[in-house]
Amino acid sequence: MAERISRALLPDNTSVADDGMATFGGVRTDDLVTQFGTPLFVYDEDHIRKRCQEAVKAFPDGVSYASKAFLCKAIAKLVHEEGMGLDVATIGEAYIALQSGVPASDLTLHGNNKSMEELRYAVDNGIGKVVIDSFDEIDKIEHLYATTRKPIKALVRVTPGVEAYTHKYVTTGQVDSKFGFTVQNGQAGKAIERAKSSGAIDLIGLHAHIGSQIFTSDSFRKSTDILVNLAEHFGLPELCVGGGLGVPYLNDESSISISEWGRIVHDISNSSSATLKITSEPGRSIVASSAVTIYTVGTIKEIEGVRTYVAVDGGMHDNPRPALYGSDYETFLARSINEPREQKITLVGKHCESGDVLVKEGDIQDDLVVGDLLVTPVTGAYGHSMGSNYNKVLRPAVVFVQGGKSRLVLRREELSDLLNSDVA
Ligand code: LLP
Repeated sequence: MAERISRALLPDNTSVADDGMATFGGVRTDDLVTQFGTPLFVYDEDHIRKRCQEAVKAFPDGVSYASKAFLCKAIAKLVHEEGMGLDVATIGEAYIALQSGVPASDLTLHGNNKSMEELRYAVDNGIGKVVIDSFDEIDKIEHLYATTRKPIKALVRVTPGVEAYTHKYVTTGQVDSKFGFTVQNGQAGKAIERAKSSGAIDLIGLHAHIGSQIFTSDSFRKSTDILVNLAEHFGLPELCVGGGLGVPYLNDESSISISEWGRIVHDISNSSSATLKITSEPGRSIVASSAVTIYTVGTIKEIEGVRTYVAVDGGMHDNPRPALYGSDYETFLARSINEPREQKITLVGKHCESGDVLVKEGDIQDDLVVGDLLVTPVTGAYGHSMGSNYNKVLRPAVVFVQGGKSRLVLRREELSDLLNSDVA
């Protein structure tokens, strides 16, 4: 018999109403849909707060939320209330964080190809730290300093040469990477020396991010070990270990927790003679499983002996991860969350291409009909944030739920939004 959806994949405050309907944060799925429509992202606010609290405890020297995972003013405010800074990778992410009221001093600017405009924005607004990624960036910072005379507080991003066991598009720590300065060929050492001797840079430490969706502790151990030695060698006080902690997306997956990750990293730094400030910047592990996406089933196409396509009103515009990385998801019916899923389906979206698949081989309750509300869990990270307007589809709304109440944080786009930048 096909399994029920695993509770471990659902937001913490998910329950089942007497009639079998899934409720999130105490709000029934059908009520959410009546109010906000579908497709709809639903985030469990207390779930996010709990993960933030776990991260702050696991990394007491400081932890930033990697805002690329999911960013709007509400989440920026929430993570900051919980004691986290924000990692921003572009001027756009920085702008939203600042608009939410997060002080610039709590932001860290990333990017392998920061523009002059982005660096100037960082200096003008007093962004707390910049993570330097290339020699050309050092040139740019020095050029900027000639007019601003304000040194930038910075970390140097190093590439420790560690292969992380994950999808090749999201590994970043190996030697062959566009990010950072390679340790093995001496580039990292050269960059550190140059940054240390530059009047434009106040170098406070090192940074490394070896990849995303990492399940095992080995790669984190190896990378931290290399970083700790390097920081010790150059007498730098701070080490940011990046993000990358994996989360389960499927019933049979598991990963280490944020607390375990913190312990692994601290065990290694504690074994060194230097006293280092250890910080991190998790994204996925804070928000991924806090959210679900709710869709309405529009049409079902059964091809006898081949497969059953179930098409919903969303698709690669709200979750491009299956199309980009071949990522898998689970799926279930909102009205019978606790029931076994006996039918095999392929869940697809409404775009004009065959690659618009949301779940390639999904299990679903076998009484599925057109009009049903179908849910995909673990969609809180890199779904909405990587979404698009492909086919001029309107981006979905996002609601936060907590204690039986829902609040809209991003409204569904309207047709007129599609012409916002159309100046013809
Ligand atoms: N720090 C840096 C410098 C990063 O580049 C990233 C993610 C993070 C922290 C946060 O990593 P996390 O804890 O979320 O794994 N779109 C891909 C993931 C790309 C990750 C990019 N960088 C996906 O959907 O799997």
